[in-house]
Amino acid sequence: MDAIVYVSNTGFTEKYAKLLSMETNLTAYSLKEAKKNLKRKSEIVFLGWIMGGKISGLKKAKRRYNIKVIAGVGFDNPKNESDEYLIKKNKIKNIPTHYLQGGFAMEKLSGVYGFMMRAMLKSLQMQSNKTKEDVAFQKLLSRGFDRVRKENLQLILYEINKLN
Ligand SMILES: Cc1cc2nc3c(=O)[nH]c(=O)nc-3n(C[C@H](O)[C@H](O)[C@H](O)COP(=O)(O)O)c2cc1C
Repeated sequence: MDAIVYVSNTGFTEKYAKLLSMETNLTAYSLKEAKKNLKRKSEIVFLGWIMGGKISGLKKAKRRYNIKVIAGVGFDNPKNESDEYLIKKNKIKNIPTHYLQGGFAMEKLSGVYGFMMRAMLKSLQMQSNKTKEDVAFQKLLSRGFDRVRKENLQLILYEINKLN
């Protein structure tokens, strides 16, 4: 494995990439930095934030690098997100892929993303017959949260070690 490459919008995926870097001694580059520092076809672990089920930057990274392990970072509770769903939605073939819970920071979202998420939060607030889970999630979104933990990287570390 040559390096870790990530795409992060508000910082949670970057945080995971840096934690993974400390655990593996591999350098973590943003996709932009990687272009200048990594050779084409380098073997990488790729981490990208999830937008509407899609792992950001994955297509670009696939064109340039040899991706060995993938992590998608989202705000959903891991109980509700399956790795299989991510694999299917992103049309991933034969690359171990896992979901990681990141967090949410409305104040860091600008432009169209901020607009979309404020609209989503509004509609959640206006929704009747909310389940306990809906109410809890709405609170989390409006306050913001950070679930990035080193412990969550265990499966990713297992996949990397398996390849070495
Ligand atoms: C426009 C938009 C769409 C999103 N769609 C999803 C989604 O489909 N599933 C999910 O779990 N999280 C979704 N999220 C939440 C982000 O993936 C989550 O906040 C993640 O931790 C962001 O990582 P980052 O800080 O590295 O950008 C979405 C966020 C935005 C702004």
